[in-house]
Amino acid sequence: MSETPSLKVPKALGEKAIRLARRLTIFNLNLKVQQVEDYLCIPLVRKPHPQEFRKFEKSLPEFEISAFEFEHAKRPVILVEVLKDKIPPHLLVSVPHAIDFVGDIAVVNIPPELADHKKDLGEAILNTHKRVDTVLAKSSAVEGVYRLRKFEVIAGVEKTGTIHREHGCVYHVDLARTYFSPRLSHEHDRVASQTKADETIVDMFTGVGPFSILIAKRHENAKVYAIDVNPDALEFLERNVAVNHVEKRVVPILGGARQVVKKRLVGVADRVIMNLPEKAIEYVDVGCATLKSRGGIMHYYEFTKAPDPIETAKIRLAEAVNRTSRSLKKILLAKVVRATAPFTWQVVVDAKIQ
Ligand SMILES: C[S@@+](CC[C@H](N)C(=O)[O-])C[C@H]1O[C@@H](n2cnc3c(N)ncnc32)[C@H](O)[C@@H]1O
Repeated sequence: MSETPSLKVPKALGEKAIRLARRLTIFNLNLKVQQVEDYLCIPLVRKPHPQEFRKFEKSLPEFEISAFEFEHAKRPVILVEVLKDKIPPHLLVSVPHAIDFVGDIAVVNIPPELADHKKDLGEAILNTHKRVDTVLAKSSAVEGVYRLRKFEVIAGVEKTGTIHREHGCVYHVDLARTYFSPRLSHEHDRVASQTKADETIVDMFTGVGPFSILIAKRHENAKVYAIDVNPDALEFLERNVAVNHVEKRVVPILGGARQVVKKRLVGVADRVIMNLPEKAIEYVDVGCATLKSRGGIMHYYEFTKAPDPIETAKIRLAEAVNRTSRSLKKILLAKVVRATAPFTWQVVVDAKIQ
């Protein structure tokens, strides 16, 4: 945050004012245009000179030059630069802040006001990121049992499959057929770092295997049971197990976690990973059942909208464990992993279960 000269105008004059500030080359692209009630505060690189001020007076029926604490624009300035001659200036503030990179695929969320310019945005991403071959726009939320999203190719090669590298492992993924998010990279590493040399781990909702394979790669005496109900996820998991040479340590299992654990994995695990945030609460009994009788560690994920997401997740997990024959001995860590929507968070709770 910084105190910066600001051109304040009624919202209706926003587009005109930004155009003018740009033409005078005093529009500050590094800061975010901010809305204050019915007004827009437009960041300037400096106070306008008297002749520039007169131009504002001539074109804008209502305006004010003052100082404002702007937030920094997180969007890559270079992308905005490439787009500045292609899309109207007032829309440049909507250029997405976040681009996810999965292998040579870039994934963006296109705000509705940029829908008519998605091809330009896609081409601009291709041109500014040399390793990107394909740009995908998210065209649905993550949905269904398999946690899949729909995508539209907006630039580059028509494909949704790629090879992604993370923490020294290689993952074949197809974003239209299997869940994968590079935003969980830190979690994959964090959980793998806590795992001890000869543990048995049950990864109840494994996807293409980013927890299981990383753990197995780091610990040659580990045994990981990696379960997923999506046959496509299993296909990719098996391929990833092979390309990362962890066949002896990872056991891929196709099926619903509840049925699989009940049939063959009761009381086997030192550690259980429950990364199905929208439903994990319904599987806490299964997570408890797969841990050894002396207990073990549970990594429990959930989405919450509650005002205090961390406390809410801790309480919900404790209540769910109390409904089983196990007890929650200690919360080792509880934290927000990421914001997934306005006022919705993914939270992780690491707990010692006895
Ligand atoms: C959020 S993804 C997690 C993927 C993976 N852990 C990761 O970090 O990329 C959840 C996965 O759980 C799978 N799934 C959903 N319900 C399941 C169930 N009852 N049993 C096993 N897997 C399930 C989905 O197919 C999906 O691949």
